[in-house]
Amino acid sequence: MKRMIVLGTGSFLPERVLSNADLEKMVDTTDEWITTRTGIKNRRIAGKGEETSKLASKAAARALDMAGLAPGDLDMIIVGTITPDMGMPSCACLVQKELGAAKAFALDINAACSGFVYCLDVADKYIKAEPDMKILVVGAETLSARVNWEDRNTCVLFGDGAGACVVTGKTGKRGLLASKLFSDGSLYKLLYMDSAPSMNKELACQDNDGSYIKMAGRDVFKYAVRSMDMAITNVLEQVQVPVEDISLIIPHQANIRILKSLGERLGIAGEKVYINLDKYGNTSAASIPIALDEANRLGHIKSGDLVLLCAFGGGFTWGAALFRW
Ligand code: ACO
Repeated sequence: MKRMIVLGTGSFLPERVLSNADLEKMVDTTDEWITTRTGIKNRRIAGKGEETSKLASKAAARALDMAGLAPGDLDMIIVGTITPDMGMPSCACLVQKELGAAKAFALDINAACSGFVYCLDVADKYIKAEPDMKILVVGAETLSARVNWEDRNTCVLFGDGAGACVVTGKTGKRGLLASKLFSDGSLYKLLYMDSAPSMNKELACQDNDGSYIKMAGRDVFKYAVRSMDMAITNVLEQVQVPVEDISLIIPHQANIRILKSLGERLGIAGEKVYINLDKYGNTSAASIPIALDEANRLGHIKSGDLVLLCAFGGGFTWGAALFRW
């Protein structure tokens, strides 16, 4: 049986660093508050020429390079994002244009911070149907464009960036062993972002105040820990793998306290939970592929390792995916 394997990973971060000290000058906050409550020290902020599709394309080029493939080899491009450059076309179509991946069809998935895990799950379904497909899976965001820089509750949390991987089918023990996705739209008001106001007055939302991310942080925190635990347990049960066998968990990078609570609930050693949110903050759909690429390039993942990805985000959406690397 052919499984979906990762041929290459890549990531790209804008150069501009926004530190906690910088934020102290912008809103009523302190480095101490941000560090102890979130674990975040710095985040990257996109500038001119660094739209989501551009960040995504640069991350994709690095993943293709590691995979030893050319853009023309790609059959499909899936981008997880809640901050596409425009409403239409999709960010994935702009990535296709930027790379010159003429053969690929392209689509976006909006699953907020779970976007990359959602994209991987969809890619896996295509690989199961057509194992020779070469699929580019990207998570990319420019959340700085959708953050209210006067709201200290949210503006300290988010950053910009992109991560990518190239996948295909291969016979053997390696590859995606199991994945599972969940959604609960009934709770959407706890974490949401308006889109551009409707031009149809009948449909215009009265409290649409211009596209900012709004979040009931404490509630999101609780749901995030419980939901990721539930998704991970589901995936491990599917393949009867005990949690101790996991080599590395690469979770969505939202908050150090969420990740510590998750590790404790699962009974997994702290050093097995990959954390880089101190450098980049919460980059939503981009956070897992950026961390995956970093861990891969730093040699933290070896062939045969069990690597678990898990995410939680607006929607609510959540899910997990288990690879034998
Ligand atoms: N600086 C200083 N004080 C602050 C700041 C700040 N930046 N932000 C909030 N505060 C204050 C609040 O006003 C509040 O003050 P009060 O007690 O006088 O009212 C106090 O700090 C405590 O606020 P809480 O919101 O209760 O703080 P909490 O410990 O819950 O931390 C946080 C807030 C970091 C947002 C946390 O709840 C969290 O990480 N939640 C989950 C976020 C998440 O996982 N998001 C994932 C999905 S994101 C996506 O899908 C796009």
